[in-house]
Amino acid sequence: MQNAGIIEKEHFTKEDLLILLSLQGEDLQMLYDKALAVKAQYVGRKVYFRGLIEYSNLCSKNCYYCGIRCRNKKYARYTLTDEEVIEAALYAHRNRFASIVIQSGEQTGNKFTDAIERLLKEISRLTNKELHITLSLGEQSEETYRRWLEAGAQRYLLRIEVSNPGLYKKLHPGDNHHLYSERLGKLHILRKTGYMVGTGVMIGLPFQTTGDLADDLVFFRDFDVDMVGMGPYIEHEDTPLYEYRDQLLPLEDRLELSLKMVAILRIMMKDINIAATTAMQTIDPHGRERALLAGANVMMPNLTPLKYKQEYLLYKNKPGTQDDAEKTKAVMEQNILAAGDEIGYGEWGDPRHFKKRNAGM
Ligand code: 5AD
Ligand code: SF4
Repeated sequence: MQNAGIIEKEHFTKEDLLILLSLQGEDLQMLYDKALAVKAQYVGRKVYFRGLIEYSNLCSKNCYYCGIRCRNKKYARYTLTDEEVIEAALYAHRNRFASIVIQSGEQTGNKFTDAIERLLKEISRLTNKELHITLSLGEQSEETYRRWLEAGAQRYLLRIEVSNPGLYKKLHPGDNHHLYSERLGKLHILRKTGYMVGTGVMIGLPFQTTGDLADDLVFFRDFDVDMVGMGPYIEHEDTPLYEYRDQLLPLEDRLELSLKMVAILRIMMKDINIAATTAMQTIDPHGRERALLAGANVMMPNLTPLKYKQEYLLYKNKPGTQDDAEKTKAVMEQNILAAGDEIGYGEWGDPRHFKKRNAGM
């Protein structure tokens, strides 16, 4: 079979990627099966938890797709207290999650950068450096990135959002606060600073073509990324992009495209970490499971205190906003076991790709 032949190739060209992204039926199932076999062989059928702490929904940016953009006045803005962050981190530690992610809308200024530094030091001290900490706090100066690394962070997530600069321009205000070149530059700085670096994209955006998605996969490979978090775009009524909702693929198709992206990427970059993202679960109650079966190996249980969860809505119908940490953990455990995977309790689950690069292998 011609398509099956492509799946076995060592290196996918852009033409191969376009064919793989369009697979259906039995051929598509073969793609998922191959991705799962690669996952089993190179990273194992083990899923690592990263306890997600949504530190603040204040954001200085105004991305056209995002519900917490600064121009959206409908949400009450919050910032967790140090005690709330630490409590969530200790919950993760007690429950042997081994990693947390601190995420926030993009903020700069000393008050913010100092608070993060203080929290990193405090969490490292209280947990005896047993937690690995991922930051997802947007574009910052090189000095800030370095300070945070020295204070105890190891990984950084900064989604490129879309790798096509022309498309990036359409999805962001045309000011010098939303520049593609800056964002890309920050990814290189993060790499140079010594972080394990993660990036990602949204899938099924207005104006986005299958060619753009193929280019996103090539972008991940060329950047030699350690971790990827990507998922379907979900429209939000309080954003400018909502106007284009009629042009979107049906939600299930956006999910399927996202699962294809995960599967192809797993085959291309065998030993990186790939997340089963919340946006996938928003579309299908089995979305995360399906992602694990397509090659994902990381999940991010949301540990944000319940009273704030409703305020961190990047998109509508985000699942789990009524669930406390215990319930969230129980649901995710079920998802993982249903997919036939194990949970990597007490293990950092650092991307093997990063370790290999640093060992010069
Ligand atoms: N749909 C899906 N993902 C979104 N994000 C922001 N808005 C949306 C949306 N409407 C993603 C972006 C951002 C991450 C935190 O959430 O990729 O980097
Ligand atoms: Fe802010 Fe991130 Fe939303 Fe853009 S996507 S508005 S930077 S939280």
